This record gives sequence, structure tokens and C-alpha cells, in this order.
Amino acid sequence: MERIKQRIGPTLYRQRVYFQLHRAANMFSVGTTLFHIENMPWLHNSFYHFLRFSGLIFLGKRNYLDVQVRRSVLASERLPEAFHGFRVLHLSDLHIDLDRDLALTDRLIAKLRGLEYDLCVLTGDYRASTIGEFETSVREMEKIRRHLKGPVLAVLGNHDFIEMAPALERMGYRFLLNENVPIEREGSTVYVAGVDDPHIYRTDNFEKACDGIPHDGFSLLLSHSPETYKVAAACGFDMMLCGHTHGGQVCLPGGVAIIHNSKSPHRMTAGLWSYHDMIGYTSRGTGACGIPVRFFCPPEIVLHELRREPSPLVRSRWRAHGP
Ligand SMILES: [Fe+2]
Repeated sequence: MERIKQRIGPTLYRQRVYFQLHRAANMFSVGTTLFHIENMPWLHNSFYHFLRFSGLIFLGKRNYLDVQVRRSVLASERLPEAFHGFRVLHLSDLHIDLDRDLALTDRLIAKLRGLEYDLCVLTGDYRASTIGEFETSVREMEKIRRHLKGPVLAVLGNHDFIEMAPALERMGYRFLLNENVPIEREGSTVYVAGVDDPHIYRTDNFEKACDGIPHDGFSLLLSHSPETYKVAAACGFDMMLCGHTHGGQVCLPGGVAIIHNSKSPHRMTAGLWSYHDMIGYTSRGTGACGIPVRFFCPPEIVLHELRREPSPLVRSRWRAHGP
């Protein structure tokens, strides 16, 4: 843990452990939003009983396990030529120990078989609860790691304790605790940075995460929540991958989210978006939280293809100039 402490920064480490110890993640009005749906057991219980008595629980559970492979294109004129066609597999919000039967692990592994990609990234929330034991989620993440190819870069979410990082790193997950790593290809470099949880623990530190990235370097940010979008764009990130919202998880027909648990614009709840000249993608999540059900919002793993071309999402006034 001493090494982890130095990597995230001693002050931020102390801040995170303080909140973890004081069970702050389970309190109302902690974090960036006023209410946290996962901290309202009465609402969970009422919704659970409604689903049970209406029979909808079976449909919701079937949807929860129906993980989709979604494809997206992340385009930027600034992308180095060598990275045109580079594929990034994106998993997020697995909350892998949510359901007692742990059936999601095998479903996910089955979906991962045969997928081709150059890099895998995970944008946080491996555990279902925000407190208590994390051994079950770590054990399930080990099974999943055996089916992920190549390097896997990850950040922690607001459901994860920092103590999970050493065990997960021994399995081959590389956590970016306000850090960055260069990815080399045919003499060109793309920098992948990751910040610690910005939602509950607020231990994200961009100064540290950007340290060493050249001013004109092409950079991709991993952030658990989209709430960092303004700072990320201001720091010059070209692309940003995040999760946390679950796309709403229980939506109205058409995928309209009722709650997204994030202090970011509604358009950043799921899928592709842009902010100034930064392209972002918010994962709908691979798992679920609270109750293992989903409605009108299927869980996903995303295959992003990076392309060196103008993005239709970026208006010309921002293109190549920035804010
Ligand atoms: Fe989260």
C-alpha cells in the first residue's frame, strides 16, 4: 500500500482512506450529487417488491445478463496516423458481485471470446457495495482478467476501495491513480491517463495525471464519472472514456434515463458526446447496481475504433483550436 500511497499522492490517499473509514460513501449529500440512489434502501426494497409481485423481476434479470457488444467510432484529426484503426475495448461498472449467483461473470466471459482489440480499459466500480468486503469482486475480476488480452488499464470508481488495487494489479490490471502511460505504435505515441474517483472520494488530480504528457501530445482520459468533462477539456485531453451513470439502468422506453446520478449534462448519460473539441463516451455499464435488473437500457461492452478524421460531433469552430 505504501507504493499505492505514493502513486496517488499522500494527501489524496489520506483523503480517500478517511472517507472510506467514515463510511462517507454511504451517507446522503456526500459526493457531487445531493442524493445517491444506492444509499436509499427503502427505495430499493419498494422497487424490488414491485418487480417481484408484478413478475417483472424475471424480465429485468434477463436484461441484466444480456450484455451487448456495441461498436463506436472515436474520431479526431489530431490522432497520430499510426493509431488510425486502433481498437479499445471498454468495460465499466461491472459491480460483479451484485447478484448472489454471480452469473454475470460467465456471461461476460462468453461475450469477450473472439473479440479483437489493441487495448482494454476499465472505468471503475468493480464491487457492488460501497462498504464491506471486496474479496468476492476481486476473485471474480481475476476470472475475467484471464479472458482479457494484452494490457488492461483501469481506474477506480466510487464503489471501490483503494485497498483493492494491489490485488487487482497482481492479476495484471494496471491502475492509473492520477497517472498516465504512453502507448507506442510505429514511432508515434498516445498518452492514456486516468484519474481517481471524482464522484464520491473526489481524489481526482489532473495536475498529477497529466504530468509528463507533452503539450501537443495526443491524450485519452479514463475517468469513472463524466463529471470531470470540463477540467478534462481544459487540460487538453482529446478523448475521454467514462461510466458511472449506467445509462440510467432503469429507463423509460427509448432508453430515456430517469436518474443518472451524476452532475453532468444529461446528454453525457450514455454513449458518444463532445465538449468543445474533446470527444467523450459514457458507458451504459456492463453490470448493474442496487437490484440486478435493467429496463430499456441493455448492459454493454464497447469496442471503440479510433480514427484519424474529423469528428462529426465537433463543431468546426472548436476543431483544432480548442476553447
Ligand atoms: Fe459509480
